[in-house]
Amino acid sequence: MKMWIAVFVAAFVAGAAAQCPCNTMKWAVCDGPPCQCTLQLSESLPQSLGECKNLVSKCYLMKAEMYRARTGQSTRSIEGKPVETAFVDNDGIYDPECENDGKFKAKQCNNTAECWCVNSAGVRRTDKGDKNIKCEELVETYWIRLQLKHKPVANSVNANNLNVSLVNAMNQRYLNDYSSFVKKVQYDPSARMIVVDVEKPPRNPIDLPTMAYYMEKDVKVLPLFLNKGNFTVNVDSQSLQMEEILVYYVDEKPPTFTMKHLSGGIIAVIVVVVLAVVIGLLVLFFTRKRLSKKYNKAQQREMDPM
Ligand SMILES: *[C@@H]1O[C@H](CO)[C@@H](O)[C@H](O)[C@H]1NC(C)=O
Ligand SMILES: *[C@@H]1O[C@H](CO)[C@@H](O)[C@H](O)[C@H]1NC(C)=O
Ligand SMILES: *[C@@H]1O[C@H](CO)[C@@H](O)[C@H](O)[C@H]1NC(C)=O
Repeated sequence: MKMWIAVFVAAFVAGAAAQCPCNTMKWAVCDGPPCQCTLQLSESLPQSLGECKNLVSKCYLMKAEMYRARTGQSTRSIEGKPVETAFVDNDGIYDPECENDGKFKAKQCNNTAECWCVNSAGVRRTDKGDKNIKCEELVETYWIRLQLKHKPVANSVNANNLNVSLVNAMNQRYLNDYSSFVKKVQYDPSARMIVVDVEKPPRNPIDLPTMAYYMEKDVKVLPLFLNKGNFTVNVDSQSLQMEEILVYYVDEKPPTFTMKHLSGGIIAVIVVVVLAVVIGLLVLFFTRKRLSKKYNKAQQREMDPM
């Protein structure tokens, strides 16, 4: 009897879960009806995603990835990337602190004593400092450049139709109307390269970094969507599949990395300090030598009358 109830409950739960998948995040767990999905962001933090009608914020996605890596669950992004592509975000992933609305906190420490400031894409935009580093505000990334390389295709691509096809593909896959944000689409047939500039007007709430993150994962064949085919751009009855992506971030305020400019200056300062110390030691050595000579003579003179 008990077993039958268990089977019935299991079937019911499975049925409910099947009725209510989280299409925008394959790692989410859903229950219902009414449909409610959650994503585990840390050992103690299941984040509600509601019915998964929207993309999940990049901060939550990164946090969930770090949690899965920590607990030995597969993300495939940590071990053995299928497509090796350079990041302009050279730091890669860390375990971020998120605001209640899913945005990144301006200051990030990756659970260490070393902290830095990030932009709204969660990408480091200052030098690393200690826990007392000040990050006054979250600087908005208002412009994202997606540099895509598509796989070889049989016929040449009509560059004039590419912009519309690309925006259509983005709208359908990334659940928003991006047509007014895509400012420029450039195409280089010999390099099979498509460069897309996506720009956000001031105070528009659209979350471009999150869209770019989903696209990055799609191109690297680590899709975050549940059961969605590949990201393809259909131009004139030909399907373009992407094989590489590079994301550039442009912030409303320029980043304040100082390392490259300062390193020469720091080296000069170190050289000066080392020289000063060496000269100081030499001076000390010689004066002490002279003093001890004088002392010996004085002692001898005192001894003489004896
Ligand atoms: C954050 O910490 C994890 C290990 O806890 C490490 O693998 C990762 O590289 C760190 N990321 C950054 C950006 O410091
Ligand atoms: C797409 O590009 C073509 C040719 O460059 C241009 O005429 C057209 O206005 C563009 N369409 C959009 C929606 O940007
Ligand atoms: C997606 O692309 C990969 C690599 O090009 C291919 O092997 C796979 O069959 C594609 N999957 C779908 C669902 O189109």
